[in-house]
This record gives sequence, C-alpha cells and structure tokens, in this order.
Amino acid sequence: MPEKLTAMWAAQFRRRLLAWYKSHSRPLPWRETHDPYAIWISEIMLQQTQVATVIGYYTRFLTRFPDVASLAAADQQEVLTYWAGLGYYRRARQLHLAAQKIVSDYNGKFPRPIADVLSLPGIGRYTAGAIVSFAYGTRAPILEANTLRLYSRLIGLREDPKQSPAQAQLWEFAEHILPQTGAQVGVVNQATMELGSLVCLPKEPNCDICPVAMLCSAYATGTQADIPLASKPKSFTPLTHALVVLQRRGKTLMRQNQDGAWWSGLWDFPRVDLTQQWSSNFDDKQLDRSTYLTLLEVAFEQQLGLHCRSSRFLKTIRHSVTRYRIGLHCFSARLEAGRLPDQQIWKWIDLSLTPDIPLTSTAEKLRKWLVLNPIHHLSPP
Ligand code: ADE
Repeated sequence: MPEKLTAMWAAQFRRRLLAWYKSHSRPLPWRETHDPYAIWISEIMLQQTQVATVIGYYTRFLTRFPDVASLAAADQQEVLTYWAGLGYYRRARQLHLAAQKIVSDYNGKFPRPIADVLSLPGIGRYTAGAIVSFAYGTRAPILEANTLRLYSRLIGLREDPKQSPAQAQLWEFAEHILPQTGAQVGVVNQATMELGSLVCLPKEPNCDICPVAMLCSAYATGTQADIPLASKPKSFTPLTHALVVLQRRGKTLMRQNQDGAWWSGLWDFPRVDLTQQWSSNFDDKQLDRSTYLTLLEVAFEQQLGLHCRSSRFLKTIRHSVTRYRIGLHCFSARLEAGRLPDQQIWKWIDLSLTPDIPLTSTAEKLRKWLVLNPIHHLSPP
C-alpha cells in the first residue's frame, strides 16, 4: 500500500464518499434489503447484465422464488424460464444447485461465514464479499469492473489490473478503505461501486463532480485517461453454426440442449456446429448451394440423428458467447421419413404463442422473426 494511504486517508475518503452517496445513489431494489438470499440473486444477475435490465428480472424472480427453499424445490426448467433473456444460463443452473446445497448443508439458511459462502457453486470472491458485507456488515472487500477502475485511478496503478501483482494490490486497497466494523461496511462497498459506475467512467471520468478527486492519484497527475491500463485484447474464435426451421401442421420442431453442450437445459431450433463438422478452416462461401445443403443434411444426421431435407436459406444471426463469435445460418427444412430419435428432447411448438419452455436468446429472437416472416412455401408432408 503506498505510504500516503494511511488510516486517516481512508477515513477522509469514506467521509466524502458516504456524503456523496447519500444524495446521489440510485434507489435500486436490492439496496433496500439485508436478506442475503435476495442480495445473492441480484449480484448473480448483475454479473453480466446491466442494472436497468436486471431490475425487472430480479422482481419477477423473487416473486416466484422468494427464498432458498422455493428455489431449491423448483424444477430446473422453470428456473431457466425465469432467467430466459438474461443469457449466461450457467448462472441460473448454479444458483439452483447452490440453493439445493444450502438446503442440504445449511438447513436452508443462507450461510454467514464467508468461507461457507465461497464454497457455493457460482460464488467467487467478489460475490461473496458483496453478499456478506451488504447483508451482515461483515468486513469483506469487493472488486469488480467499476471498483477496479476507481481503485486503479485512486492509487495511480501503472500495471495491467487483471494481472496478479496488481490484483493483490487492488484487493488490499479495497480492504483498506473499509471501516473496522459496523453497518457502514456494506454501504462503503455499495458507494464505491456507485461512484465507479456513475462518475469514474471508463472514457470520460467526471472528475469535476467527483467527491474524492482531491484524494485521487490519477487526478493529481492528469493520468485518468491512461489508468487503468488496457488489458491485452481478447482473441475471438469464429464458429459457424446452422439451424433448421422444421414445420409440420403449423408447429415447429425444437430440441433441448443436452448436458455438457452449450445452453444445456434450454430449448433451441435443431442446431449443428459446422466448424466441428468440417474443420475450423472450412470456408462455406466456396461451396455451391446444392453441395452446401447436402453437407448440412449430413451434419444434422450425424450430430442430432435428425433426417431432414433443407430447402431455403432464411437469414444469418451473429452472436457471441464467451470468446466465440458465432455466425448462425438459418434454413427452412422438411422432416424425412423416420422417427425422431429421442422423444424427450424434441418438441413441436406453436411459434406464435409465448413458449412454456425456456428458449435460448437466439431461438427467441428467431421465433419472433418467424412470427413476422412466416414460411409459406412449405407444403405439409
Ligand atoms: N453491479 C454489481 N453489483 C451491483 C450493485 N449491488 N449495485 C449496482 N450495480 C452493481
């Protein structure tokens, strides 16, 4: 810790921060509770999703699953339905698993020791710190995107903040600014996050209105624009997927993604990975239409056991998952003779009705598109 960051510095920082927070914080629903369960749900939702989007999901989720017991007892499909649209569904599956673990290991009561909280699926150091500090006032530091930026500027960090020596320094600073005890611990954590997201902005920090600018090392040296140092850019892997819209008697065929596959538990149009089928340097633009459609049929047969005849290209949807950039080509198709291999994982649904099964985000997007652009040319078999 740099020498000038004394206990007195920290006390002054807190005073200024808390005075600002009192009059500038947003009234967010999870800030009005000390229930660790509700705080946990909000923090998991907020991990990859904007505050404005989370509010509606949080309220609906807590109305349906108001406590650990109701979440643990629910069917996974229903939990996923309440999550549908938030993306990163692993979060929902882990929430569900963690609720079951709290029932079996902690008698249904959300644990209090941070080590126990950390042992739950899907909870890392940031989330554990947030839950125990907001709910119980435990002196636990937090570090996420907004606080990482704020703390890096406050201490004038000149290294990549994602690397381990800088991480250790940032966590140490995050703890240093907390009061020794008391209810204010959680408020300080909320307030630093709020200052990071409302004032200490990535591109143009609003130093003119910042309550702690006079304590900020980056402000003193005019280096706000250079701190935090940009991390190495992520490299993306392109993938090509294809799906078929297969209709019969006004209904459309859907398939449930299986354990170990992406979006497991969620329903999708029958979908294959063409990169896996034809190697990563396969160039689909080089193929003539009929070869392409034949190869497509082979992929559906081999990967899903689905015998279909694809007919018309509909559209390409581009989306990203973690480090993958996916080009998803959508085709209409007809089912060939033969039965669907495993009835459990296939379903015919009416696209015009809100589905009672959880769809992936891209499937939901395509469902809405198909309602507006119905496929007319297919005759029933
Ligand atoms: N982002 C992550 N956690 C948050 C919280 N508790 N309030 C606002 N934004 C957040």
